[in-house]
This record gives sequence, C-alpha cells and structure tokens, in this order.
Amino acid sequence: MKNILITGGAGFIGSHVVRLFVNKYPDYNIINLDALTYAGNLKNLTDIENASNYTFVKADICDEKIIDNIFSEYNIDAVIHLAAESHVDRSIKDPLSFAKTNVIGTLNLLQAAKSNWNGDFKNNLFYHVSTDEVYGSLTDQGFFTEKTPYDPHSPYSASKASSDHFVRAFFDTYRLPIVISNCSNNYGSYQFPEKLIPLFINNICNNKPLPVYGKGENVRDWLFVNDHARAIDVIFHKGKLGDTYNIGGFNEWKNIDLIKVLIKTADRLLGREEGASESLITYVTDRAGHDYRYAIDSSKLKDELGWEPSLQFEEGIEKTVKWYLENTDWVENIVNGDYQKYYSEMYENR
Ligand code: NAD
Ligand code: DAU
Repeated sequence: MKNILITGGAGFIGSHVVRLFVNKYPDYNIINLDALTYAGNLKNLTDIENASNYTFVKADICDEKIIDNIFSEYNIDAVIHLAAESHVDRSIKDPLSFAKTNVIGTLNLLQAAKSNWNGDFKNNLFYHVSTDEVYGSLTDQGFFTEKTPYDPHSPYSASKASSDHFVRAFFDTYRLPIVISNCSNNYGSYQFPEKLIPLFINNICNNKPLPVYGKGENVRDWLFVNDHARAIDVIFHKGKLGDTYNIGGFNEWKNIDLIKVLIKTADRLLGREEGASESLITYVTDRAGHDYRYAIDSSKLKDELGWEPSLQFEEGIEKTVKWYLENTDWVENIVNGDYQKYYSEMYENR
C-alpha cells in the first residue's frame, strides 16, 4: 500500500490526476487535500468519491499544524503537489495570496515531508507540479528546455518560480527526494471558466462578448489535460530524483486563431451558421506584463521516459467544446456559486 497525498485534487488538473490514480492504482490510498477555494469543486470528482481507496480532506496547505497532522494520521509516503492559486489575472490584482499559497504553502508541505519522513527517504517522493511560465516569454523563435534560465514576469509565475527553487533547495540541502515538472497550457473538462477556453465557450453559448486581450497575437502551447495527468503518472513512477521534466505537445496557437477554432466548433455544435459568433470578438486592453509566447520542448520526457501526447488538438478541442455544451449545469453551478453548498451537503453530516 502506498499512501499518496495529492494536493489541489478538487481543481481542474488535480481532479484528472486524482481520477487517474484512484482508478488505475487500487492498491494506493489516494488522499485528496484541498482547501476548496473558489477554484476547488468536489463535483469534479463525483464519479470516484465513493471509491474505497479515496479520501477527501478539506485543509489549507498554509496551515502548518494541520498539514503536519495529516502526514502522520495518513502515514503519507508520497506527495503530488498541485494546490496553487493559478490564474495570472488574479495574481495581478492580489499578489500576496499567490505568495502565501504558492510559496509558503509549498514550503510548509516540504517541511512536513522532511520531518515526517524521518530522514529515511526510501520509498518517498515529493512531486511538485509547476508551469512553463517560470521560464518567461519567448520571441517567435526557440523553445523552453529544462535548461532555460528562470525569468518570471507575473506575480503568479514569480510565485511558482519561487516554489520550484524551494523544492530544489530541499533536494540539494536535505536530500529530500523530489521531482518537478513544468507544463504548458492545459485544456479540457472541469476547467474553471475564468481561463480562456472555458470562458469563451460559455460566452459563445450565451452570446456574450469574447474579450480578446491586446491584438490576440500572443501564442500559447496547448495540451489536453488527460495527457498532462498521464505525464504526471509516468514521471511519478519513473522520473529521476532531483530532475525536472518539461511537458507539452508541440501545439502552438496564436490566441486569435484558437478563438476562431472555438467559434467554428461551438457554432457547428450549436447548430448556428458558420462563423455566426465571430461578431462577439471584442478587443480589450491587454493584460499587464502579458508574456508573448510560450513553447515547450518536451523531448527529454519522450526520450527518457517514453511519454507522448495521445490526442491530436482537433480531437481534443472537439471533445472539450462538446463537454462544456453538454455540462452547462456544471458551469451554471460555478457561475451561481451553488457548488459551495455541495460540500456542506456531502461532507458536514458524515
Ligand atoms: P486550479 O485553480 O483549477 O486548482 C487549484 C486547486 O488548488 C483548487 O482545487 C483549490 O481549491 C486548491 N487550493 C488553492 N489554494 C489552496 C490552499 N491554500 N490549500 C489547499 N488547496 C488549495 O488550478 P489548475 O489549473 O488545476 O492547476 C493545478 C496546478 O498545475 C497548479 O500548481 C498550476 O500552477 C499548475 N499548472 C497549471 C497549468 C494550467 O494550464 N492550468 C499548466 C501548468 C501547470
Ligand atoms: O502556461 C501554463 C499556464 O497557463 C498555467 O501555469 C496557468 O495556471 C494557466 O492559467 C495558464 O496561463 P495563461 O495566462 O496562459 O492562461 P489564460 O487562459 O488565462 O490565458 C490564455 C491566453 O489568452 C493568454 O495569452 C491571455 C489570453 N486571454 C485570456 C483571458 C482569460 C484573453 O485574451 N482573454 C481572456 O479573457
């Protein structure tokens, strides 16, 4: 039996990782620790919530005592750390909460791991899930490799960079067994509708304006979320201790081109005339410090651990648009704030 603490498991990527591990590894106990901030939603996990190898714990990673207790109570062997404040625009408005959760929260987990694992780190692993944004911004040329120097620009990416440095410092200083991955932009089901793709699908559905930052010329490298979860599985089991792995699908899109694909797909699925929703495109003031281009070179992960994305973008985007159109209740619940009630109904009287 392995007792694996997954933090942030009620969020977008975390819920896909929890589902994969619960279903694929019946011999592991999966403890999903999440503070259920605005971004955490237990409705993302209704299909596995009664599994015998799954436990949910509501807790804040910044709470030193509680985190320490959880390590001893559940006899945690390994951590997959995803809990974070994750939205760049929010970090511009409220950088402090990003420093608290992403930096202090991560440090707190590292301390708990170090003290509870008693200096004998056999069969332990602290897996830190990070982002390509720590590498900064590219021009039209080149890719981020694992050797690209850190150059974060937003309070979000600065906080993630800082957490990465702490994780490496625990490896160098205390030999805590760690591994880090830095992934590109994810898309797929259960993404909070503040991020580009779910926000725009929801707005197309409701004939609301589509707010394109600047000229829509920024470039992002998109990966289907289930492929990120599969990469985490591979790195968790086969990654070299102390190492970093970039995760991405060599799938770059200019925002405006991606938005046109979303419009085309959604209009077709909604039975609208082709391009009918293009009139919703509205150019708005650019994001402050907006990184121009991200592009990940994930060849190390492919060459050393054999991971490759499983899905072509066209198929992934079709599945994603369909999912949001078929799950309007899920989006509505978030927009109404109703899913907050779900937690009390499900757990408070147990
Ligand atoms: P998300 O915002 O959807 O989910 C974050 C989860 O963390 C939520 O469930 C939230 O309740 C929880 N959380 C936040 N603060 C907490 C705290 N103090 N204590 C405990 N739980 C807390 O984020 P996401 O998009 O799923 O990202 C997950 C991780 O992956 C993050 O570390 C992010 O930096 C990283 N990442 C995201 C992407 C992406 O495209 N979304 C790409 C690369 C890396
Ligand atoms: O690269 C990985 C990162 O990808 C993750 O670490 C972050 O957690 C995740 O949020 C994401 O960051 P981005 O800032 O790239 O994602 P977002 O969906 O917010 O924006 C994607 C692009 O679309 C970006 O260039 C800004 C633009 N955009 C976004 C929104 C929300 C718009 O033009 N309009 C919008 O309304």
